[in-house]
Amino acid sequence: MKVLIVYYSTFGNVYKMANLVAEGVSQVKGAEPVIRTVPELIPQAVIDSREDMKAGKQMQKSIPLVTSEDFRQAGAIAFGTPTRFGNVSAQLKNQIDQLTSLWLAGELEGKPAGVFVSTGSLHGGQETTPLTMMAPLLHLGMIIVGVPYSVKELFTTQAGGTPYGPSHLAGSDSKRDIDSQEATVCRALGRRLAEVGLLLQKKS
Ligand SMILES: Cc1cc2nc3c(=O)[nH]c(=O)nc-3n(C[C@H](O)[C@H](O)[C@H](O)COP(=O)(O)O)c2cc1C
Repeated sequence: MKVLIVYYSTFGNVYKMANLVAEGVSQVKGAEPVIRTVPELIPQAVIDSREDMKAGKQMQKSIPLVTSEDFRQAGAIAFGTPTRFGNVSAQLKNQIDQLTSLWLAGELEGKPAGVFVSTGSLHGGQETTPLTMMAPLLHLGMIIVGVPYSVKELFTTQAGGTPYGPSHLAGSDSKRDIDSQEATVCRALGRRLAEVGLLLQKKS
């Protein structure tokens, strides 16, 4: 079963989280991670004028853009975004808004979905971003999968990691590395999506 990990990232942090979610998927027998990104909306001239954006884009240059077929083939889907004013990025929302034909055909109904997010500040969207991102996924008929507190890092983290989904604190310069507790929560979401997806496939 394919687990689609579709994300947007400007500086590379959400891209690194996507790889960690993929590691969790790979730990489950019968599950295969598929990492895809979405079209950029920042003008190329703006990216070219900033070393941090150029570096972020460079590290993701081999990642293909997601297609409708990727969504169709997936048995479970993880959606990743940096926060933008406490909410999902326009780039990822733009992709979600293009799911209309799959929505009308009910093709995403019953698929498990999880969300993950990176923020610049500790209280700038770690909880609002995942929670608000869940609304369109519920419209699409997806079954929301979070991270349970049996993942003990949720109790001890001093930075990212929420029951609504993995999160990462990037810092004001977006350069803080993903720490080991944040990474554990990312892998836990990947594993859980794969396990739930496989269980649901057996029932259908
Ligand atoms: C337009 C814009 C709005 C942002 N809004 C927020 C915000 O509301 N709260 C916050 O903590 N960080 C905010 N950030 C910081 C980003 O969320 C941070 O750079 C991101 O987590 C890095 O992810 P990336 O490396 O995958 O791009 C904002 C950044 C930009 C460019």
